[in-house]
Amino acid sequence: MWYGKHFIFLLLSFILFSVFHAPAFAIKKSYIVYMGSHDHGKGVTDADFDRVTQTHHELVQSYVGSSEKAKEAIIYSYTRHINGFAAILEDEEAADIAKHPEVVSVFLNKGRRLHTTHSWEFMDLERNDGVIPSESLFRKARYGEDTIIANLDTGVWPESPSFRDEGMEVIPSRWKGTCQHDITGFRCNRKLIGARYFNKGYIAYAGADAKFNSTLNTARDYEGHGSHTLSTIGGAFVPGANVFGMGNGTAEGGSPKARLATYKVCWPPLDGNECFDADIIAAFDMAIYDGVDVLSLSLGGLATDYFDDGLAIAAFHANNKGIPVICSAGNSGPTPGSVSNVAPWILTVGASTLDREFDTIVQLHNGQRFKGTSLSRALPENKFYPLINAADAKSANESVLNATLCLRGAIDPEKVRGKILVCLRGSIARVEKSLVALEAGAVGMILCNDMLSGNELIADPHLLPASQINYEDGVAVYAYMNSTKNPVGYFDPPKTKLQTKPAPVMAAFSSRGPNTVTPEILKPDVTAPGVNIIAAYSEAVSPTDMAFDKRRVPFITMSGTSMSCPHVAGVVGLLKTLHPDWSPAAIKSAIMTTARTRDNTGKPMLDGGDYSKATPLAYGSGHIRPNRAMDPGLVYDLTTHDYLHFLCFSGYNQTQINKFSGADYRCPGVINILDYNYPSVTIPKLYSSVSFTRRLKNVGSPATYSASLKVPAGLSITVQPNVLKFDNIGEEKSFKLTVQVTRPGKATAFGGITWSDGKHQVRTPIVVGGVRG
Ligand SMILES: *[C@@H]1O[C@H](CO)[C@@H](O)[C@H](O)[C@H]1NC(C)=O
Ligand SMILES: *[C@@H]1O[C@H](CO)[C@@H](O)[C@H](O)[C@H]1NC(C)=O
Ligand SMILES: *[C@@H]1O[C@H](CO)[C@@H](O)[C@H](O)[C@H]1NC(C)=O
Ligand SMILES: *[C@@H]1O[C@H](CO)[C@@H](O)[C@H](O)[C@H]1NC(C)=O
Ligand SMILES: *[C@@H]1O[C@H](CO)[C@@H](O)[C@H](O)[C@H]1NC(C)=O
Ligand SMILES: *[C@@H]1O[C@H](CO)[C@@H](O)[C@H](O)[C@H]1NC(C)=O
Repeated sequence: MWYGKHFIFLLLSFILFSVFHAPAFAIKKSYIVYMGSHDHGKGVTDADFDRVTQTHHELVQSYVGSSEKAKEAIIYSYTRHINGFAAILEDEEAADIAKHPEVVSVFLNKGRRLHTTHSWEFMDLERNDGVIPSESLFRKARYGEDTIIANLDTGVWPESPSFRDEGMEVIPSRWKGTCQHDITGFRCNRKLIGARYFNKGYIAYAGADAKFNSTLNTARDYEGHGSHTLSTIGGAFVPGANVFGMGNGTAEGGSPKARLATYKVCWPPLDGNECFDADIIAAFDMAIYDGVDVLSLSLGGLATDYFDDGLAIAAFHANNKGIPVICSAGNSGPTPGSVSNVAPWILTVGASTLDREFDTIVQLHNGQRFKGTSLSRALPENKFYPLINAADAKSANESVLNATLCLRGAIDPEKVRGKILVCLRGSIARVEKSLVALEAGAVGMILCNDMLSGNELIADPHLLPASQINYEDGVAVYAYMNSTKNPVGYFDPPKTKLQTKPAPVMAAFSSRGPNTVTPEILKPDVTAPGVNIIAAYSEAVSPTDMAFDKRRVPFITMSGTSMSCPHVAGVVGLLKTLHPDWSPAAIKSAIMTTARTRDNTGKPMLDGGDYSKATPLAYGSGHIRPNRAMDPGLVYDLTTHDYLHFLCFSGYNQTQINKFSGADYRCPGVINILDYNYPSVTIPKLYSSVSFTRRLKNVGSPATYSASLKVPAGLSITVQPNVLKFDNIGEEKSFKLTVQVTRPGKATAFGGITWSDGKHQVRTPIVVGGVRG
């Protein structure tokens, strides 16, 4: 399911209606009724939770008429930290409930998608070396020992070697979670300490008539995605992990000694929706209660208003309880404004490459050689084979375009047998093209990138010998085939190459800013490895997710921001182990201000599509550097009050905010969103000049920091004061930035400010949108 089909994160396909049919005269849909937070205090018991459920029940009853109807309607009652419920209601009932004085918002039980290339265009493969925190952070943070990290995903394959618990001590007593057993024999251990599944929101969307089987009543992973992400977060050391012999080495997660838990909220797609808000909120509510320390979510949907976004709401509650929430940015790049999970209390992660490639060199008879990539087997013989442009192998009833793309049914086997078929990338999954080629009797396949995918190469577990080449090289192969009557070619079997350059390169698929909900907050926040990542897989599915593919592998390569997100979650686990007193905002700041924007050639990071210079709209503050994040010097910290100011600015009124937060809070008269103490700066539109204040907190030793500015053409930036002296740990100091137009221009400009004491570099990108003057 994850291989082959490419996954364009089609925002338009967010169909916001459910298909639940009840009485013929009224269509019911599943809704979330959000009512803020609970304040249970210590010594809370199940009886308290039952009382909450009772109040939800009474509330619904007063709108739907009877106790029976209320009972039938409610699918979840959120009782622990998040206050609210999910229920199947008529539009009118939902609208009425929205006016209830205790209700913050009512919104549809929306579906979301996993952020891997489970999809119609981008495919997947990889592993962790070159990215995993170096020995020193591992050692200092005791490999994340006893920190509890969880994901919300497709569940887990508990028998995977990545989740073995050899050498692990008893489970920390603060853990209140559980392992839901099932008929599949799912068992937890001292490594995998918790597993729960949440399917009521999914079933409500599917409708009462949908037929479901036992695969819906288990936390077992039938897709592979959840096992992959959880093992990337905190899989144990597994020596000799490889994919078809490639990338052989020790696999381990970012926090290899952390305890892991999974909350299964994603199920087989329904109209492209896999993970539903009602289930996501239920999972968060339980995870906070169970005692997780870090939460990782490799899924997302259309970026919407925060109070109508179940994930954003739930993440706010987790963040308030000191639990950092890390989310993938999405795979809808390079389209501008495609980034999801944009709330400022989420750490949002884009995807970029590692310095590892799986090279398959393509050779033409005319002597030309091109660097391709693949995870397939070798051609049967070491000799040149005839090449055929798929357009020339078109079946009689099909279009040239369909044949060029190697769509199913478009290729005539008579013309292809024994040859290397040359296909153009796009429209369907990359491995699906290798299936078409295999079924047509081709001996191999060369997959040529289209213009949009440019230089982005992904090593897929193709079904026959294959090599994927970039756009420019593809054009050369097509030209060669045009130039001669009997074109012939060959490609090498894949070889693992390390320390390749340049790396990292932004993945073309990684979703981009600007942030469409709050343009003043730069998203994504950072980038991390998300191309060709090797991690654990589910043995319920084949590496291509094609039914006839009987291969089963314990490890597989996958690509997507789904894969970069758990890398950051693993590092957050280490930082949380090392600095248990740091707030989620401090941890996030540490990761952001120490990120790098240059690649391993020392030049600015490139963008994988066209190899242009990547910008903060693609990588945020840059590529994570875990070793530096453990000692950032200074952080931009945030309090709950800062978040509430942010909500005032975002247009929510005091009544709503008080319900949302459970706090007694007053919106200040005037708020400048640019004062919001975020570790990056974005000024969406600049007219003449603007000033704002940020504050830094010392988390290192006493030191004096001075500022240096990177000022883009057409602007002036000044900082006041430009020296900050910190005498104590925990001390906070503010500074004022003034950004002024000196020469009007419309292009987005990129600058920055760096505070340094000679040892630490605390770097903040400054993004200035349309400069108007
Ligand atoms: C259960 O449902 C899943 C998803 O619809 C399907 O792939 C699987 O084959 C079914 N299993 C059984 C035992 O029917
Ligand atoms: C992987 O490496 C291990 C340890 O170096 C070695 O024993 C094993 O044979 C290797 N496996 C493959 C498939 O190369
Ligand atoms: C080409 O492919 C599309 C999409 O699969 C299909 O709808 C169409 O019928 C195919 N054939 C032709 C001749 O366009
Ligand atoms: C063309 O014929 C093939 C083989 O019969 C079939 O699979 C395909 O769907 C047909 N395409 C169109 C556009 O009719
Ligand atoms: C190859 O020939 C085809 C058909 O004449 C033409 O459309 C295409 O542009 C040529 N490609 C190259 C790269 O020369
Ligand atoms: C706050 O906003 C809600 C929702 O828009 C509205 O119903 C309510 O009247 C507002 N309250 C105040 C005090 O403005």
